[in-house]
Amino acid sequence: MKPIEDNIRSNFILGDCLSVLKEMDRESIDCVVTSPPYWGMRAYDNEESEFEIGNESTFAQYVDALMAVFVEVKRVLKKDGSLWLNLGDKYVDKRLIGMPWRVAIALMDRGWIMRNDVIWHQLKGTQSCKDRLRDSYEHIFHFVKSKKYYYDADAIRIQPSRMPIIAEGKTTSSTGVSGKKYRRLIRESSELTAQEKINAEKALDEVLAEIRAGLVNDFRMTIRGAQRTWHGNNTKISGRAKELVNRGYYIMRMSAKGHLPSDVWNIVTEDTWRTDTHCAVYPEELLRIPILATCKKNGIVLDPFSGTGTTVSAAIKLGRRGVGIELSPEYHRSAQQRIAQTANRHLQP
Ligand SMILES: C[S@@+](CC[C@H](N)C(=O)[O-])C[C@H]1O[C@@H](n2cnc3c(N)ncnc32)[C@H](O)[C@@H]1O
Repeated sequence: MKPIEDNIRSNFILGDCLSVLKEMDRESIDCVVTSPPYWGMRAYDNEESEFEIGNESTFAQYVDALMAVFVEVKRVLKKDGSLWLNLGDKYVDKRLIGMPWRVAIALMDRGWIMRNDVIWHQLKGTQSCKDRLRDSYEHIFHFVKSKKYYYDADAIRIQPSRMPIIAEGKTTSSTGVSGKKYRRLIRESSELTAQEKINAEKALDEVLAEIRAGLVNDFRMTIRGAQRTWHGNNTKISGRAKELVNRGYYIMRMSAKGHLPSDVWNIVTEDTWRTDTHCAVYPEELLRIPILATCKKNGIVLDPFSGTGTTVSAAIKLGRRGVGIELSPEYHRSAQQRIAQTANRHLQP
C-alpha cells in the first residue's frame, strides 16, 4: 500500500499502527517523527481497544509492543531516512524507571543508530512532590537506519544575528570587530619576531577580506603574550594553543552560514490545538528541526501515533507531505479537522 497518493499533501489512516504499517510499501517514507503513548501515563479515549499501546502490565511488555511497531517503521523507512522518537519518563514506587532509555537501548540492540539524544526542556515542569527536583524535560532521540543518511544541516543553522556592518567607511565583523586593535597589538608585541608580525598581519588582512566577501561573519584573534588565553598553553589539549606557540597567533572564524542548534531545545509545551484533549499533544515548533533537517522538500513524514495530527500539520506547513496513523476515532477526526483549518498556513523555516 502506498502511504500517500502523489498529488495529496496529507493522509490520516484510522487503525492500529502495527497492522497499518504492515500494509505499507517498504522504503516509502523519508522521516518518522512520533510520540507513542507513555506507559501507564495517559488514559486515551480508546482505552477499551485491545490494540492500544501503553496499557501493558509490565514495562518489559510495553517495550516489546513498541519494538514490534518499530520493526515495521524500519521497514517502511527509506535507507537514508530518520526516526525522531519523543518519550517521557515515569516514577513507579518512587523509582524513576528510565523508560526513554529502556526503549532507546532496545532500538539500538535492533540495529538502529542513535545520532542524538535531544533534551526537550519544557521550561515549566510540574512540582508534585517535595523530596526531589521538578521534572522539566523529555527526550527526543534521533535514530537512523544507516551511517549515510539524509541531513540538511544548512536548513537548520541559526543565522548570525547581525550581518557585517560598515562603520567609518570600513567593513567590520557582525560584532563590530575592525581589526584595528589586533593590528596595534601585533605591531606593539614584544613576544613576536619580525617575521611573525608580518605573518600575523597578513592573516588578519585575509580574515578581514573574508568578512567583506561575506564568507565569515565574525572572528577573534589571539596573539602570543597579548591576551590571557582561557585554555592555557597546553599543546596536548588544544590545536589553537599549538598554533599560538608555533606561529604566535591564531584566528577563530565564525561561519557566515550560522551555527547548528544544540541538543537542548527550550520549547514550551502549550499548543493552541485541542488543549481540552487528554492526548499528550506536542507543539509544532518541536517538529521544525527534525523535518527541515531530515526530510527532503515534498518528502513524506510519517507519525504512527499521530493523535491530533501535530506532525502532519507541521510537515505540510514546512512544504513536506504527512501521513498519520491513529487508533482513536475521535483524535483521527480532530486531526482531519485541524489540517482542513491550517492547510494554507506555513511555519517559518
Ligand atoms: C502521545 S499521543 C500522540 C500525540 C500527538 N503527538 C499529538 O501531538 O497530538 C499517542 C497517540 O497514540 C495513539 N495510539 C495508541 N495506541 C495506538 C496504536 N496501536 N495505533 C495507533 N495509534 C495508537 C493514542 O490514541 C494517542 O492518540
